[in-house]
Amino acid sequence: MSAAPAPGTVLGRLDALEDGKGKVMHGGPGGTFVVRSGDEAFAWRNLCPHAGMPLAMPDGRVLVHQGQNIVCPVHGASFDVRSGACTGGPAAGDELTAVPVDVVNGEIIVR
Ligand code: FES
Repeated sequence: MSAAPAPGTVLGRLDALEDGKGKVMHGGPGGTFVVRSGDEAFAWRNLCPHAGMPLAMPDGRVLVHQGQNIVCPVHGASFDVRSGACTGGPAAGDELTAVPVDVVNGEIIVR
């Protein structure tokens, strides 16, 4: 698995993401993905707490249902885009691992 990105790392531009969508923006399959929600960005380690599988698909895209819930493609657990808390499926009580970020001048930067 890739290391978490260091503080100050620029993950990319917010406008590279469609609103309500997510994709891997650092470190490949075991790295970090970002979901856009309006003018905000939420970054998470690309690891499902259920069975430790990547949450992103092989092409780097992340399934986000109605812009609200990240859905694991392996067994279908879902997680709140903003809090990372499990909202359904087999990872109940678990949560995603956050990578805190800020959006500064359109760039997504690790805090
Ligand atoms: S590995 Fe994600 S739901 Fe099982």
